[in-house]
Amino acid sequence: MKSKLEQIRAKVVSQIMDCDSADKLNEIKVSILGKKGELTDLLKSMRDVQPEDRPKVGQMVNETRAEIEKLLDERKAKIEKVVREAKLKAEVIDVTLPASKSELGHRHPNSIALEEVERIFVGMGYDVVEGPEVEKDYYNFEALNIPADHPAKDEQDTFYVVNGIGAGEILLRTQTSGVQVHEMEKGKLPIRMIAPGRVFRSDEVDATHSPCFHQIEGLVIDRHITFADLKGTLAEFARALFGEETKVKFRPHHFPFTEPSAEMDVTCFKCGGKGCRFCKGSGWIEILGCGMVHPHVLEMSGIDPEEYTGFAFGVGLERIALLKYEIDDMRLLYENDIRFLRQF
Ligand code: DAH
Repeated sequence: MKSKLEQIRAKVVSQIMDCDSADKLNEIKVSILGKKGELTDLLKSMRDVQPEDRPKVGQMVNETRAEIEKLLDERKAKIEKVVREAKLKAEVIDVTLPASKSELGHRHPNSIALEEVERIFVGMGYDVVEGPEVEKDYYNFEALNIPADHPAKDEQDTFYVVNGIGAGEILLRTQTSGVQVHEMEKGKLPIRMIAPGRVFRSDEVDATHSPCFHQIEGLVIDRHITFADLKGTLAEFARALFGEETKVKFRPHHFPFTEPSAEMDVTCFKCGGKGCRFCKGSGWIEILGCGMVHPHVLEMSGIDPEEYTGFAFGVGLERIALLKYEIDDMRLLYENDIRFLRQF
């Protein structure tokens, strides 16, 4: 009996010492101390022991059992410690490693150009306002002196949303000029505003056209505003945008809502006006439409043209961005390819 006990003890001790996982340790425990375990079996065979030897043998078995239990507990704690340390090691955060960067986008040339235009006009005391992109025919055409049968209406290939009659029509605005009317109707004078925003025309896409593009509208209304104010303001705008040496030229033109009307050209900022590939040899680049607000337009919005006068202008934002950043195809502006955008 004693040697059997010694044998079990020696075997178990070496098993426990070699064990490196909690599961295996549990198996060992069951195989020795479990219901059908070796030590349990040994206890059962006590009845074969001489009664006078029983207390001694019993004590030996109990001691062995206690010893094994103690060893199991110690080994278990050790295995758990090793596992915990390995886990901590695996989860360690090295704060000196470079952080994984989140990809940032890049500001669009349109946005950069718009901010520059806004900065120039805000510096001259203008407010920046917005108007609706879905607009009534009245604001887009009628109140701008373009009645239903006016040929100027045909020039702008319009996306109609609701096909009413004349002023009852609802459409995607073809120009930002309607914001002029919204501002005038507010009845607060004087007005000094620019209104940037999206406009829509049923145009085919090519290097210089898109069915959706951006304009920046300008409007000034006050007492004693003259064409000299228009010229001075827009010349200053051109110099601030394209450089101090920029000169401007006004060519007579026609817009239904201004009288007189003009288109403004700037000297080519690439060649300084000598003529180059950029300005197609002319030395001049057209950048905006403008004019003195038509008295009838003032009247329709409740402003007395005898007391107040004003000027207006409209700039294509894409045109400014394309010129300023020397981009030769408008479609590049709408592809949102980050490799393209990053260049500006
Ligand atoms: N709305 C015009 C267009 O889309 C541009 C324009 C021209 C706006 C002259 C104006 C202006 O305010 O005075 O072609």
